[in-house]
Amino acid sequence: MASLSVALGGCDRPPSPSKATAWKPTDHGADERFAAAEAAKKAGGVAAIETPEARAANETRLLADRVWAAQCANCHGDFGKGDGPVGGVVGARDLTSEAWQAKTSDDAIASTIREGRGKMPKFELPDSTIRALVARIRAVRGL
Ligand code: HEC
Repeated sequence: MASLSVALGGCDRPPSPSKATAWKPTDHGADERFAAAEAAKKAGGVAAIETPEARAANETRLLADRVWAAQCANCHGDFGKGDGPVGGVVGARDLTSEAWQAKTSDDAIASTIREGRGKMPKFELPDSTIRALVARIRAVRGL
C-alpha cells in the first residue's frame, strides 16, 4: 500500500518546476484543472472546470485582441468603428456596420487581411491568427 499513499500525498505537492516550460493549451490535464477549481472554491469563488478546448478558445481570443491592438486599431479603432488615430485620414470603414457585416463573408474578410485593400496594407499572418481576427470582427457586428 506504500505506493497508494504516495499517490494520494501527491495532491498537496506544488507542480514540479520541470512543468514550467513553454505552455501549450493541451498541457493542462484533468488533475491540474481539478486543483485550480478547488483553489477557486477555497478562495470563495465559483468552481469552474475549464476544458482544454475552452482554454484554447480563450487563448485564441486573447491573441486576436493583441494582434488587433498592435496591427489594426491604429486605423480601425478598438472596436472596428474606424475611429483609430489615423482612421479618418485613411478612410477606414465602420466594420461594426450591420449592412456591411450582412453582405460580406468570412473568406472575403480573410482575403482583405491577407491581401490588403486601398490604403490598408496586407498582413502576412498565420491562418489561425487570421481566423481569430475574422471572429473578432464578427463579434463587433451591430455594436
Ligand atoms: C493603415 C490603416 C489600416 C490598418 C493598419 C488596417 N486597416 Fe483594415 N482597412 C483600412 C482601410 C482604409 C480600409 C478600407 C479600404 C477600402 O475599402 O478602400 C480597410 C478595410 C478593412 C476591412 C473591410 C474590407 C471590406 O470588405 O470592405 C477589413 C475587414 C479590415 N480592414 C480589417 C483589418 C484588420 C484585421 C487589420 C489588422 C490586421 C487592418 N484592417 C489593418 C485601413 C487599415
